[in-house]
Amino acid sequence: MAPSTLTALAEEKTLQQSFVRDQDERPKVAYNQFSDEIPVISLNGIDDVGGRRSEICKKIVEAFEDWGIFQVVDHGVDAKLISEMTRLAREFFALSPEEKLRFDMSGGKKGGFIVSSHLKGEAVLDWREIVTYFSYPISARDYSRWPDKPEGWRSATEEYSERLMELACKLLEVLSEAMGLDKEALTKACVDMDQKVVVNFYPKCPQPDLTLGLKRHTDPGTITLLLQDQVGGLQATRDGGNTWITVQPVDGAFVVNLGDHGHYLSNGRFKNSDHQAVVNSNYSRLSIATFQNPAPEAIVYPLKIREGEKPVLDEPITFSEMYRRKMSKDIELARLKKLAK
Ligand code: SIN
Ligand code: FE2
Repeated sequence: MAPSTLTALAEEKTLQQSFVRDQDERPKVAYNQFSDEIPVISLNGIDDVGGRRSEICKKIVEAFEDWGIFQVVDHGVDAKLISEMTRLAREFFALSPEEKLRFDMSGGKKGGFIVSSHLKGEAVLDWREIVTYFSYPISARDYSRWPDKPEGWRSATEEYSERLMELACKLLEVLSEAMGLDKEALTKACVDMDQKVVVNFYPKCPQPDLTLGLKRHTDPGTITLLLQDQVGGLQATRDGGNTWITVQPVDGAFVVNLGDHGHYLSNGRFKNSDHQAVVNSNYSRLSIATFQNPAPEAIVYPLKIREGEKPVLDEPITFSEMYRRKMSKDIELARLKKLAK
């Protein structure tokens, strides 16, 4: 495929066959059929020990037990910084494919910048363009390998990384305390918590009912903070995929969801939310996912096993091994599905 494929394909009347999903994977609910079922929690007063804190923590814990996903408002991240991040990311995606690819260093070292495989002509089923960067610690970024456009993006991403790292740690503290552990327990279990950002751009799609922006998955890491614009398209399920709900976009909110690592550390008490992104023919959509991940060598095993419970894992494994097993399971499932056709 030639560069700029996805944007060019968005102009077509019919969807290119390679993006057509199997019937059972296609969207069941539209991008704008919003549900308010996912809790929206205000952090206003969370530091007020003896006051609002316990009430807020209770809501957070219930949301993780019930859904594994919720939205957070009054989180302390500056609204201007949030809108800057969205504006700058949109500007990046509006650059020419050549500009975007100028800094691509897929497979390279961590300090750099990775550009969507669509632009490189690889066959990907998801109807999205992405850029990825490892954002923490900021000193590890190699800015000689980062795009110099749009202006101001680098400094905005620095500030954003710091603030989101703080927010993630605050939420992990709540979970650690709810597990009856020291409040640092979950962050410590990450060894050196990593942060990876994936900026998703979903162009308008000619036949959105046949495809997905991002297929159904759970995030592998500890916790994810997702910023989405007002278009809508993020969907979650809690009954194995029989019912999907479209998360109502809330201006300035972060969608928080727990990943596999967080799920295993809690011995399954906190859910790792199954989610996906659907697209539409009216609007392009932007989302910025900040993944808080453990170090590759961090040990994955329940930190607390409650009375009467069995451990959800047979043995302690490293995060990189957990990730490897997750990927091979996905490949195996896809292979079996193909065989069954
Ligand atoms: C993600 O799951 O990483 C992104 C979902 C979205 O774009 O809504
Ligand atoms: Fe995700």
